[in-house]
Amino acid sequence: MNSQNVLAFLTLHLFILGCKAQDFTRDLNNLRSSTPPQVQESAVNDLIRRILPTKAEFFRISIVPPEDPAEKDAFVVESEDGLVNITANSGVAAAHGFHYYLKNICKCHISWDGNQLSLPDILPPASLNVTASDRFRYFGNVCVASYSWVWWDWSKWENHLDWLALNGMNLVLAPTAQEIIWIRLFTKLGLTQDEIQSHLTGPGFHAWQGKNGGRMGNIRGWGGPININSLWYQERLRLQQRILARMRSFGMMPVLPAFAGHVPLAFQRQLIDEFGTDHVYSADPFNEMTPQFNNSEYLSAVSQSILRGMDRADPKAIWQGKLLILDLASETREQYTRLDYYFGHYFIWCMLHNFGGTIGLYGVLDNVNELVYEGRYGENSTMVGIGLTPEGIGQNYVAYDFMLETGWRTEPVNMTKWFADYSTRRYGIEDDKAVAAWEYLMSSVYVHNRTVPYNRRNFLIGRPNLKNKPTIWYRSNELLLAWDNLLGITENITSGIEPYQYDVVDVTREALVLHAAYYYTMMTNAFKHNISSDFQLNAEQFQHILEDLDWILGSHRSFLLGRWLADAKAAATTSEELHLFERSARHQITLWGPNGEIMDYAGKQWAGIVQQYFTPRWALFIKRLNDCLEAGTLNFDQQKFNAEVFSEVEKKFSMDFNIYPATPQGDPVLIAKAIHQKWRSAKKRFSQTLTKMHNQYLNRVHKRQTRP
Ligand SMILES: *[C@@H]1O[C@H](CO)[C@@H](O)[C@H](O)[C@H]1NC(C)=O
Ligand SMILES: *[C@@H]1O[C@H](CO)[C@@H](O)[C@H](O)[C@H]1NC(C)=O
Ligand SMILES: *[C@@H]1O[C@H](CO)[C@@H](O)[C@H](O)[C@H]1NC(C)=O
Ligand SMILES: *[C@@H]1O[C@H](CO)[C@@H](O)[C@H](O)[C@H]1NC(C)=O
Ligand SMILES: *[C@@H]1O[C@H](CO)[C@@H](O)[C@H](O)[C@H]1NC(C)=O
Ligand SMILES: *[C@@H]1O[C@H](CO)[C@@H](O)[C@H](O)[C@H]1NC(C)=O
Ligand SMILES: *[C@@H]1O[C@H](CO)[C@@H](O)[C@H](O)[C@H]1NC(C)=O
Ligand SMILES: *[C@@H]1O[C@H](CO)[C@@H](O)[C@H](O)[C@H]1NC(C)=O
Repeated sequence: MNSQNVLAFLTLHLFILGCKAQDFTRDLNNLRSSTPPQVQESAVNDLIRRILPTKAEFFRISIVPPEDPAEKDAFVVESEDGLVNITANSGVAAAHGFHYYLKNICKCHISWDGNQLSLPDILPPASLNVTASDRFRYFGNVCVASYSWVWWDWSKWENHLDWLALNGMNLVLAPTAQEIIWIRLFTKLGLTQDEIQSHLTGPGFHAWQGKNGGRMGNIRGWGGPININSLWYQERLRLQQRILARMRSFGMMPVLPAFAGHVPLAFQRQLIDEFGTDHVYSADPFNEMTPQFNNSEYLSAVSQSILRGMDRADPKAIWQGKLLILDLASETREQYTRLDYYFGHYFIWCMLHNFGGTIGLYGVLDNVNELVYEGRYGENSTMVGIGLTPEGIGQNYVAYDFMLETGWRTEPVNMTKWFADYSTRRYGIEDDKAVAAWEYLMSSVYVHNRTVPYNRRNFLIGRPNLKNKPTIWYRSNELLLAWDNLLGITENITSGIEPYQYDVVDVTREALVLHAAYYYTMMTNAFKHNISSDFQLNAEQFQHILEDLDWILGSHRSFLLGRWLADAKAAATTSEELHLFERSARHQITLWGPNGEIMDYAGKQWAGIVQQYFTPRWALFIKRLNDCLEAGTLNFDQQKFNAEVFSEVEKKFSMDFNIYPATPQGDPVLIAKAIHQKWRSAKKRFSQTLTKMHNQYLNRVHKRQTRP
């Protein structure tokens, strides 16, 4: 969640470096992996075997640790006669060298949506020498732990850690399993089992754990209680041990939580005892809350007390003045400009691309392409890294791919060319229509063009309300042209290219949402003008769109409610937890709090939710509007509807235990083509209406200030 008035606090996230050197520069230099080079080499070799089992023997990895601690990560790739030597100064740099070679020389693609790894029999020659632009590449946001990681088992973690290494990430948030540390601590302090259990949230809400829970500190108990003696906590602990071991083997530095509230110092000691430390801790003292007092004395006192706490947790360390600041959303709301590069403190330039793990095509890559370099090379800049701080991952891979490259670039790219190359790598073909599709995506949904303040939730997933207006924030016609082109290339594409299937589903989904916005607008206009026949017609079309939306989403594993619920249940260790975890999983994506105090913040466009949550909700709305028309009145009672839809649909869905398919149904490309043929019209009224809605949006935005 985020809101304007807490912006400044949201976007300043503190890292505390626990090193022993005298001055801060040396502290940063000491922030290095202490893993022996042979261990890093073998970790990278194992990674290559996981990615390219039949070609791994042709790669030779050597890690030569830096002589100068200020050295940035770097790699050299030399390939001749089908043998590829990669020399690097860290494991992550070597892994990135491998990825860089695959991307740029072999035109391959590794992504969340599947890989495209068609390689020639003989690996192509290359001679590359690349140095990172900054000391750090950071990954993590406390929310990602709940929106994305919460049900992951080791195999999903292993993929994710491989992906982080392939992209050269060397500073990574590691918040898993801290609950067990709290439990131990609270037990030691004499709290009863009941007291502890009623305090800790359920797994779907760990990121927002109560104040003394060390995470963001703004939710208590919701989604619990899990028995504190549950095996689940032990499994989390084992999982975290494996995560930390793997991170360290790659030469990454895991970032452990620091306590941000008034908590016993013993927490940090327990944590260090259990997990070891790389001397970086994360604290987020005012996450999504307005500080009690708005003055610098108060804020300074809070920070001092956190730092003092760290100091006492490890008396041998010197903590003062060791801050590394995450500028959390630099691509749209950078703070370092306003704060003079944090008055000399180091910071990391981060892209906060996603809120709530919601789904929608979105990116502000034109901003990224400029502002990273302005931030880094500005006079007196204190930028020491780039980072990713999404609340949820798994969507818009292109935005992450683009952003991650800035950590190894020194100047902006030609975006048109970059997107064309991206389409080639992603689909494994050079095709004019693929290039055109991605060029249209670039110029519609992946540019900011000084218009979009930040990613927003789609109107379809919120509770219906006559006052709602769908936001058409991009040029919809170009999105539809991207859709045409994408479906036009199927004759050239070998079936089963996973990223292609993903894009077909995702772009079809987005196109359907545009159609839904149109029919919604026509339907509600008809209602407001008391034209019953028009209302019926458009309401019917609107509901057909929802059916087709569920149909296309159901054809891809990435868009299934059934998968989310199955993963939640698979994590349970008792039959009690089976129920608890399912409820936690359903609540996270629908209602937070017993009366839906927060609703649909993390709503998903997934098959299953569309069918049994959004569709009945909209159906009830349409029915009640229709009742009004039949009664000859236009006085729709929103309050009454809210109460009815809450008990009839929302609460029911969130408490239900019915089962949804966890595997995809049907051929996504065939389904997308059928949907395209059915809905894609050149109807003048359609495009005029959407263009008008887009212009209205632009006017609204231009009235506000676009960038702070
Ligand atoms: C790769 O390393 C091997 C072993 O050190 C060496 O014989 C070979 O010449 C190297 N290849 C290239 C292209 O540098
Ligand atoms: C790589 O580039 C760096 C800096 O440009 C240079 O110092 C180094 O010698 C190069 N390494 C190789 C193996 O070419
Ligand atoms: C805090 O105070 C400053 C200056 O007194 C003011 O500009 C700012 O709007 C206030 N912020 C909040 C969140 O009240
Ligand atoms: C950079 O720092 C110097 C020395 O403190 C100062 O004189 C100069 O004005 C600064 N430049 C900018 C753009 O802030
Ligand atoms: C960017 O790349 C495109 C496609 O390769 C090319 O047509 C265009 O001229 C390039 N633009 C610039 C400014 O170099
Ligand atoms: C960006 O905005 C300008 C001015 O509003 C407009 O002329 C241009 O077409 C826009 N470009 C894109 C790619 O949306
Ligand atoms: C298929 O690829 C060929 C060769 O690149 C190209 O000429 C042709 O236009 C492509 N077909 C379609 C439908 O785009
Ligand atoms: C709506 O239209 C109906 C039938 O045409 C009419 O009876 C009714 O009075 C109208 N209601 C309003 C509020 O205009």
